[in-house]
Amino acid sequence: MPRLVSHPDEVKIVTRRFGQGAAQIDRYLELGGYEAVKKCLAQGPEWIVEEMKASGLRGRGGAGFSTGMKWSFVPKQSAKPKYIIVNGDESEPGTCKDHLIFLHDPHSVIEGTIIAGLAVGAKMGFIYLRGEYRYLLEKMERAVAEAYERGFLGKNIFGTEAEFQIVTQSGAGAYEVGEESALMESLEGKRGVPRIKPPFPAVVGLYGGPTVINNAETIATVPHVIAMGAAAYAAVGTPRNGGTRLFGISGHVERPGVYELPMGYNLKKMIYEVAGGVRGGRGLKAVVPGGSSTPVLLPEEIDIGMDFDQVGKAGSMLGSGGVVVIDDQTCIVEFAMRTISFYAHESCGWCIPCREGTDWLKKTLTRFHAGFGQPSDIDNIRYLAENMLGRTFCPLGDAAAMPTLGFVKKFRQEFEDHLHGKPCPYARAGVPQLTVV
Ligand SMILES: Cc1cc2nc3c(=O)[nH]c(=O)nc-3n(C[C@H](O)[C@H](O)[C@H](O)COP(=O)(O)O)c2cc1C
Repeated sequence: MPRLVSHPDEVKIVTRRFGQGAAQIDRYLELGGYEAVKKCLAQGPEWIVEEMKASGLRGRGGAGFSTGMKWSFVPKQSAKPKYIIVNGDESEPGTCKDHLIFLHDPHSVIEGTIIAGLAVGAKMGFIYLRGEYRYLLEKMERAVAEAYERGFLGKNIFGTEAEFQIVTQSGAGAYEVGEESALMESLEGKRGVPRIKPPFPAVVGLYGGPTVINNAETIATVPHVIAMGAAAYAAVGTPRNGGTRLFGISGHVERPGVYELPMGYNLKKMIYEVAGGVRGGRGLKAVVPGGSSTPVLLPEEIDIGMDFDQVGKAGSMLGSGGVVVIDDQTCIVEFAMRTISFYAHESCGWCIPCREGTDWLKKTLTRFHAGFGQPSDIDNIRYLAENMLGRTFCPLGDAAAMPTLGFVKKFRQEFEDHLHGKPCPYARAGVPQLTVV
């Protein structure tokens, strides 16, 4: 079981039941579970949507869209059934929070899914876990079975007229199916490739019906927002960025882990105080603030609040909240090569700029890092990435291009140095050099 970390600056809202046996329904109930859904049954759909809007909760999957707004886009009347999907694909490197929710508090995901269903008039929800989380599927299924036994799922939930069913589903292990439309294709039993947008899922989604798709952390936060009240939740964060966030801090820090901190928490403080600073007392070279797709920040750029707006202003993105700390003994060209290798491997191949662009970048960076670079390669890497931006079917192409552009722009000298030192001037003793593939 992953080790739970903690720090006095944490504000435990989503994680407040972690480590307390809440995966078992009686314990969840003892800890106040399923009270929020009862409140929602009494208040009705409009009230729920307004509460979500007022809470300032923004999607924790990456883009940071207002959850209340998203729910309000679902048409009230629909000839086709409506659906809720919980996105538990969690595959972006640096992101490691959702699995803790499935492990420690699966009923919060169920409760949040039911509330989303009540808000938009859906009677069916799907909880989709990444293929590598199959070990968590059993846990999730046990929790769903318990909820059915208690009459919290099925027909006449909580003794009312309302109905809500939940089905769990595991993927086959593909980053691309975290993208909402590819996830829906996968759920329908097809190859996990993206759909053209518009139409957006809120109008035409799973099986053609209006669909709300939210990240697992977003959904698990919903019962807490209802229980504590939208205003109290919003007050924890910063303007337009309500509540807390589960930040996964990894890389070269003394105390890596997932910490629940208020939105807007200072990034520098997060690294040096919460995560104990750079490992071994080394210097800081760079920080990836929100998962591998977000542009890198320099040490002088990290004195910022970690919310969607402030990180955006600093030229990067809050993304999925995965903070990756890079020490001064790391070769950025190698880091860029490893990052792009992930995207080249995970590109679904559906569109050419992504399929060819990621592969070309990977090959160029691998050759370049191994000491076989040409001076023209540096601008060619930039040119390739620029030409992928905004030109792919889904944002996976952008996710590969954006960090690459950041590396070249902010660490150009390091790229230049590779033209003179063979194979890698930043090689660390004992770390084997990579060969050209
Ligand atoms: C390639 C790709 C992978 C993604 N992977 C995930 C993921 O693993 N989990 C997730 O919640 N969102 C992921 N997203 C974002 C989803 O498309 C979608 O925006 C999100 O599930 C919406 O939920 P939210 O509003 O609660 O953030 C991914 C997007 C892209 C383009």
